[in-house]
Amino acid sequence: MSPAAIVPQSTQTAPTANTGPNTAQVAQSHEAPVYLTTEPDASFDWKISLKNKVVAITGANRGIGLGIATVCLANEAKEIWSLDLFEPGEEFEALSKAHPKRVHYVQCDVTKEESVIAAIDKIVAHSGRIDGMVANAGMTKHQPALDFDRPQLEQLFNLNVFGAYFCATAAAKKFIELGIKGSIVFTASMTSYRPNRAAPSAPYGGTKGAVRNMAHTLAMEWAKHGIRVNSISPGFVRTQMTYYVEKAPDWNLKMQYYGGMPRLADPKELGGAYVYLLSEGSSYTTGIDIPVAGIVGAW
Ligand SMILES: NC(=O)c1ccc[n+]([C@@H]2O[C@H](COP(=O)([O-])OP(=O)(O)OC[C@H]3O[C@@H](n4cnc5c(N)ncnc54)[C@H](O)[C@@H]3O)[C@@H](O)[C@H]2O)c1
Repeated sequence: MSPAAIVPQSTQTAPTANTGPNTAQVAQSHEAPVYLTTEPDASFDWKISLKNKVVAITGANRGIGLGIATVCLANEAKEIWSLDLFEPGEEFEALSKAHPKRVHYVQCDVTKEESVIAAIDKIVAHSGRIDGMVANAGMTKHQPALDFDRPQLEQLFNLNVFGAYFCATAAAKKFIELGIKGSIVFTASMTSYRPNRAAPSAPYGGTKGAVRNMAHTLAMEWAKHGIRVNSISPGFVRTQMTYYVEKAPDWNLKMQYYGGMPRLADPKELGGAYVYLLSEGSSYTTGIDIPVAGIVGAW
């Protein structure tokens, strides 16, 4: 079966509870929504690949975003665009040099919706399409919950939650406009499930809980457009954000108790999960989170 769109066989009936006359009328007046199916067509080769795909990754100038970009390129992505606030450094330039014309940077502040929209427009003007959006840019702050003031909280929520939301909605609008069955992936965190036992960061965990949670509802809302929305929850990854972890004097002792793999991840070790969710190999995967966290008991 490979029609462009499918219509559910039967119209959903209203739930039995709480069904007064008004609810029944509303249910009857609703037409069955038309769903754009994500099922690949008969020519699909079932290889997990990003061939021909143009992918935007926020905060890909360094750290996890750069690792995701590297693995996307290794898996045939046509182009990677880093949407980042700051100018790229040496690491990004090296990746760009290694993959001529496939790696691009566009200056963007994800906390400003108009900046995200402009960046996506620039990608489409250059490449004619956009297939994936990885809402990855984020920050943390480690200090006791009682010490946070409002500006600090706003900074965290503006970047991690509002920024991710603007990226997802701007990408979804563009996918719909272009008729592209796009994939959106959020970088959440293991702190969205449980506390980071290595450093106090209650507001950060709250932002990442919000990110992981919004993927569920966006996935539900946008399935009819053929847009999939998922998240990935990294554990400890070696980036500037985790500068403190291995320097802790009790690191080795903590490792004994945490169990699992007593080391931080290289950002590239997350990449396969992102490639999977961005590819059509995951055409029936939406609304889930994939935890990638080798240090098992740190959360
Ligand atoms: N490092 C970890 O162990 C870890 C664990 C779990 C989740 N995460 C999440 O992974 C994501 C990436 O983290 P990282 O460790 O690579 O951090 P990082 O600080 O190394 O990289 C963050 C990138 O985001 C960019 N950025 C910051 N503000 C921006 C803005 N307003 N607009 C656009 N870009 C902006 C930065 O310039 C930088 O390139 C974050 O969302 C973080 O919360 C990291």
